[in-house]
Formats: sequence, C-alpha cells, structure tokens
Amino acid sequence: MRTELSFAPLAEIETELLAVLAADTQTAQDAQPTPSLLTADPAVQAVAAAVLASGEFKASANETLLLHAPAGLVAKRLLLVGLGKQAKVTVDAVRSAAGVAVRFAKPRGIRDLALALPDLPQAAAARAAAEGAFVGDFDPDTYRSDRKDKSIQSFTLAVAASEEKSAIQTAFHEGVILGESQNFTRNLVNEPGNKLTPTILGQRAAEMAAEVGLGWEVHSTEKIQELKMGAFWSVAQGSAEPPALIVLRYEPAGITEGPVLGLVGKGITFDSGGISLKPGADMDKMKYDMAGGATMIGVMRAIALLKPRVRVIAVICATENMPDGKAQKPGDVQTAMPFSADKPGKTIEIINTDAEGRLVLADGITYARQLGATHLIDAATLTGACVVALGHVTAGAFSNDDEIYARFNDALALTGEKFWRLPLGDEYAEQIKSDIGDIKNTGGRWGGAITAAEFLKVFAEETPWIHLDIAGLAWVEDSRPYIAKGPSGVAVRSIVEWIRGY
Ligand code: BES
Ligand code: MN
Ligand code: ZN
Repeated sequence: MRTELSFAPLAEIETELLAVLAADTQTAQDAQPTPSLLTADPAVQAVAAAVLASGEFKASANETLLLHAPAGLVAKRLLLVGLGKQAKVTVDAVRSAAGVAVRFAKPRGIRDLALALPDLPQAAAARAAAEGAFVGDFDPDTYRSDRKDKSIQSFTLAVAASEEKSAIQTAFHEGVILGESQNFTRNLVNEPGNKLTPTILGQRAAEMAAEVGLGWEVHSTEKIQELKMGAFWSVAQGSAEPPALIVLRYEPAGITEGPVLGLVGKGITFDSGGISLKPGADMDKMKYDMAGGATMIGVMRAIALLKPRVRVIAVICATENMPDGKAQKPGDVQTAMPFSADKPGKTIEIINTDAEGRLVLADGITYARQLGATHLIDAATLTGACVVALGHVTAGAFSNDDEIYARFNDALALTGEKFWRLPLGDEYAEQIKSDIGDIKNTGGRWGGAITAAEFLKVFAEETPWIHLDIAGLAWVEDSRPYIAKGPSGVAVRSIVEWIRGY
C-alpha cells in the first residue's frame, strides 16, 4: 500500500473514495442522534448536509454511508464513517474508522482512497489513521486458489492546513511502520504449521533482519544442546522438525551504556499437546501458538525502522510440540539451561507435556539474560486459563517489578491495546513446587494463568520482567468492521512503544 499525506483542500483531492468522519453530538439521553462531521471543510459540509439532516445516518461507531458523485468534490465517492458519541471520540476511534474505510473499499474493488484527518490532536490521529489503514487492509485468505488481490494500492491522509506539519508527517510515517510491522506479524501467525515450520520461521526472521539491518542468528539442535537448554529441548525432542533458536539484535551505533531490553517469544509452530495430547476439537487453532514469537519479530522490524536510542535483543524459541516415541513423557524430569557455569540449571518435573510454552520460554529468558538483557518482556499464547479469566477482550499481563510495569502501562495509553495486570505471589508459587525436583510445569486447575507466570518468574530471577499472556487476543474470533477474522498482531505496537519509552 502506497501512502501519502496531502495538505490540499478536501474538494481538490482526486480519489476513488474520500472518507470523512462523523460523531453524534447529541448529549441528551433518549433524544434523536445529532450527527456532525469532524471536519470543517465547507465543500464536504455542503455535500453531507442533506443526509445528516435526514436521520438516515446516526454516526454510531463503525456505521458507514456512501454518496456517489458528490457535488463540488473531485473525489468520485464520499464515505461517511461514524465514530459514535462525540464525547467519547478518541484517537483509538480514528484508528478503527480508518480500518472501517479500508474494509468498506476492499470488497467493492475500490483500491485507492483518502481519509480526511479529523480536527483532533493531529499528530496522534495521523499516526492512528495510518495504523488503522494497514490493519484494515489485511485479509487472511492467502491460500485460496482463486484469490483476487483486493488490497488497497494507495492511501492518502488529507490534513487541513496546520501549524504542526512536520510533527504530523513524522507521526504518519511512524504509523505506517507500525501498521506494516503488525501485519508482518499477522502474516506469520496466519501460516499453517506445515508451511511455517520452526526452520522456516527462522528463515523469515533472518530475511527480514537482513532487509532492515538487524543483527541475527538462527541456531538449531546443536546450539540448543551446547547451551544445555534442557527445557527447550524437552519440547523439541518429540518433533521430526528441528527447532530454531532465533536471535535478533538491534544495536544502535554509539550506545554502549544503559539498558539492554530483552524480548522473549514463544514460537510453538504447532501445539498438539505432545503425549498429553489435546482433544481434537479446535486443535487446528494451535498453529497460532507461535504468535508470541511472531510478535517479537514484528517488534524488531519496527524498531529497526524507528531507530530508538536503546539496545534491544530478541530471543524466539521455535519448535513444534508433538507426540512421538522420542517425545517427553509426564513424570520426566528436565534440567533447564544454567545461567552461568557455576550454577546448575533448575530441575523441572513434567506433569503435563501440553504446558510446553513455559518450558521453551524458561530457557529463552535465561538465554536473553545471559546475552546481557537488563530488562525483560515476554509474549506468549500461554494459557487457556487466561482466556477463561479475561475472555477475548483483554490480554493478561504480569510483572515482578512495578517500575517496569508502569512504563508498559504508559505504552498502553498510547496504543489503546487492552492488557490487565494479574497478581503474582508466594502462595501461587507454592502450587508449582515439585516433590522430586525444583518446580513442576503445571500448578493445578486454579489460577492457571498465574501459576504459569510464576513458573517464568523463577527464570527471570531478579531481572525486571513483564509477561504478556496473549492466548485470548492473538486470534480474532469474529471479523469486525475494522479488522478481519484471524491473526490480530496484538501487542506489537505496545511493546514497540514500551521500548521507545527507554
Ligand atoms: N498453547 C496453549 C494455550 C492456549 C490455549 C492458547 C487456548 C490459546 C488458546 C498452551 O500450550 C497450553 O496448552 N496450555 C495448557 C496448560 C495446562 C496443561 C497447564 C492450558 O492452558 O490448558
Ligand atoms: Mn500446550
Ligand atoms: Zn502452547
């Protein structure tokens, strides 16, 4: 998708479709909606006046109304997009509305559109509009043999004359990078297990890294054994596909001091459950169990292009989780990677081979710390329990440090993504004590998302760390007007923003 900023009057914008935003300014309860355009442009106001007065369009959230051949405009069509109640209009609503406009155009074969930036805080809105346009443009039907490419070719953001031109330009450009990177992640998550093996995930990460100028290494079995990653290997040993240990590095020139941010991603390219085999229903969904890893790959792409002044390193542990004669068994005891040669790795009793995400992350976290990470964040489709707790609306977050979490919370305020911090504590840690070894890989039925986080916390040790459980949000269950059903790319933008906070 080509993108462009235009500061021309709306009437002069040459496009197949010009989208303008509208909100309901009615404040009295139970009274008729009073839709009103969020752009002062007189030409557009004139064209829309009759339909706004008619009561046919209420400007409710995601509502659309199309006018052909609008008089006085060069644009071929004018699309009104509703944002809901004026008092509740935020930058997030602009992001969604941009997605709505794009997803309105696509099935109609309209491949060029312009969006009029509303009179909100303009830089933030410009960025959100770019993000929303890219996110809206994504469709998951990549393997349809009769697929017709309906993606948008050109997206123009039309901005009324403004004093903050260069701030708007910068913000728009950032929005493009973020939206593209989120889609990069979504494309990876969308791939089925047979097309995206751990090896191929490693190749995709390496290709991207080479393209944007990141340092990268992709290792496999030999290195995993050399590092004594017994927890990671315990999952990988049951698969015919070799695992991949993916390392991406962003090292801006001249920065040798300060924090090193470590990103760790769960990259299970297919989770059958292993010997503790999952039931058949919905098992196909478990191709998205590498979403946490794909999130970190997308984040690194964005970071390479946005160039913040902080070092970042990503570790993605990719493998399948399969049943096999060589697969690990419930009751097995594994030894996790030692942090240093003088300390032995922790021993883990395997209660359920389906609790594999925490195993690969344990060694990923230790490795990131060994590579110098001073602050950690991990992302994983880790537990069904988190979905039970928070549904498909809010993702789970955990942290061993209030300061690092406060920074993540600040990032959420900018991106509009929904995470909710859940507790940790010694009483929960009790649930994962093992009779035979140090810890066990499941903590029983109650508080399953929390005991999984407690497991990871053991490996973060004293390093400030955030854990994101995105099991309920990494896949959009039903399409919405601004986003297709399928992989969501959740957390990419928030993690990027958290990094930029340093
Ligand atoms: N990948 C799953 C978690 C998951 C479940 C993600 C549903 C998305 C939707 C994870 O590996 C898993 O199987 N977790 C188990 C843990 C249990 C065995 C302690 C779970 O949540 O049931
Ligand atoms: Mn599992
Ligand atoms: Zn899993």
